Amino acid sequence: MGGETITNCKINISPVFMKNTIHLLCFLLFSITAFGQSPASGIAIIPQPVSIIKDTGHFILPKSVVIQAANSPELAHTVAFLRERLSEPTGYRVISVTSSSNPTIKLQLNTQSDARLGTEGYSLSVTASHVVIKANKAAGLFYGVQSFIQLFPEEIESKVQVNRSNWTIPVAEIIDYPKLGWRGLMFDVARHFFTKDEVKQYIDVMARYKYNLLHLHLTDDEGWRIEIKGLPKLTEVGAWRVNRTGTFGNFIPATPDEPRDYGGYYTQEDIKELIKYAKDRFVDIMPEIDVPGHSLAAVASYPDLSCTPEAINYKPRFGEQIMDWSGGAPPKALIDNTLCPANEKVYSFMDTVITQIAQLFPFEYIHLGGDEAPINYWQSNDQVKALMVREGMKDIKDVQGYFTKRVEKIVESKGKKMMAWDEVLEGGVSQSTAVMSWRGMKYGIEAAHNKHQVVMSPTTYAYLDYMQSDVISEPRVYASLRLNKSYEFEPVPDGVDPQYIKGGQGNLWTEQIYNIRQAEYMTWPRGFAIAESVWSPKAKKNWPHFFARVESHFKRFDLAETKYAPSVYDPIFKATKTADNRLKIELSTEVPGLSIHYSFDNSFPDKFYPKYTTPLTAPVDASQFKLITYKDGKPVGRMLTMPISELKARARF
Ligand code: ACM
Repeated sequence: MGGETITNCKINISPVFMKNTIHLLCFLLFSITAFGQSPASGIAIIPQPVSIIKDTGHFILPKSVVIQAANSPELAHTVAFLRERLSEPTGYRVISVTSSSNPTIKLQLNTQSDARLGTEGYSLSVTASHVVIKANKAAGLFYGVQSFIQLFPEEIESKVQVNRSNWTIPVAEIIDYPKLGWRGLMFDVARHFFTKDEVKQYIDVMARYKYNLLHLHLTDDEGWRIEIKGLPKLTEVGAWRVNRTGTFGNFIPATPDEPRDYGGYYTQEDIKELIKYAKDRFVDIMPEIDVPGHSLAAVASYPDLSCTPEAINYKPRFGEQIMDWSGGAPPKALIDNTLCPANEKVYSFMDTVITQIAQLFPFEYIHLGGDEAPINYWQSNDQVKALMVREGMKDIKDVQGYFTKRVEKIVESKGKKMMAWDEVLEGGVSQSTAVMSWRGMKYGIEAAHNKHQVVMSPTTYAYLDYMQSDVISEPRVYASLRLNKSYEFEPVPDGVDPQYIKGGQGNLWTEQIYNIRQAEYMTWPRGFAIAESVWSPKAKKNWPHFFARVESHFKRFDLAETKYAPSVYDPIFKATKTADNRLKIELSTEVPGLSIHYSFDNSFPDKFYPKYTTPLTAPVDASQFKLITYKDGKPVGRMLTMPISELKARARF
């Protein structure tokens, strides 16, 4: 059974009730859950734990809380976090000690390893009088604390004191450990720059959902975001661009004297601070230097890195069109945004960059990009043609393979492993390079069959830059990915040897994301779905049950002042043309239990307006279809305005 993981439904009940009655009650609890009401047990942990045994009774948080934990640097943040969460909203006194005869909450590292829990698992035992969290390693205690906090009422997330008569959680025993070791989110800080504090804010939230890997996309056409000593222009020139706002991709050309003062970069000290901040929350940071394509910021800084002489006039991109995708992949570059694979200076540049990246980042992998490298400039370049003759290369695709293999050698010479986007499989790459599968799952499957380590981050389930509902209510991006589709993400496909699948990851590209609030909006709630896909056992996944928990976490985010998208409440439109040339509109929803109220008369509907039940025929003169979604008598969706002209275009009028 998917859904709520109550492996053993214990209910204290008068002996006159038959055992069958108890079973019936358990069944009813499960049934309510399965229909998407609030989780039957009141437990709404994301990601869903491996096992929850709920008993009767409650633990009531005392007004003076004693946390017992060893005085160790790797536990310091976990204890500080727990103290803050338990004191800030409650106003209670919360102290931590290294030993106590009667602690309220005990965080305990196992002296004898519990084989079930591995390095990140935990057990959480809540009795009526106290709480014990045990783990083999500090990471497990951190995750146990996250689950413990999620057992409390949503107000536990409040930043200000909340008046409640008490703070209780159900008595329960939880055993939990992750399905996969790589549970990642990629944050593109190149297209738009996000400050060190904003990256910390992003880490704070992801760590709470048991993500353990932040992939920082540090370089792209729009910006180079990391200080490299000896290459000052990367950050003097490459980190700054023209500031434009609106719909990225088609901005009008910049004027020659337009200020290029929008952007920023991280100093090496900033990077060390971020790595430490992430590590305290059991998150590793993997850097990405995206080469040989997506390199306009580097080329604008050091035009010698290009095969194209006009590169001396190049500037970091600000959102104007530089690629023509009309012929499919690889794109045709309108300006040459590649590093020149036939230029030895490029390899000494890469050596300098990778040496410093390898020294700065303790994580074992460095991501070297490899995606979407255009070949049209290489095809007509004499240096590249000479390289092909010299190396006996027949196909232009082999040129990227040549580049990748040389970069791979540099990475390995620094004691690191290389990871790259799945395009690198095309030019050939050695088995030690790990592949990040983004163009669907198929390249990841192919790579795993060829014994590469693989991280699945497919557009189909995990692209967090895609729209979350209809284009009328979301910033326009070329594709959409609804929450229920993200929730279908299964990083370990059938028929693939799981030892080659390191894990899964959501990718947040930021061309259209101008600020941290929007970064949060795009990440959540799909980040919940991906977290559950990489942490929870496949058999425990259950969409209605998940969504009931998501709604509890929406309330948590409201109180924590973290943004999320309410797009899941937006209806799905289907427009068709009837035989008598009228517009037929059909609506559906991702989640059960919603009622949609609408108008065609340009006024704003509420729950007293007609409720959608069957397909509608638009009145002949209507120009707008306005809608709002209610659940349990309360508005949950946004007020949407769908132009009739848009529906007619979709119906091919
Ligand atoms: C990618 O989305 N170009 C990896």
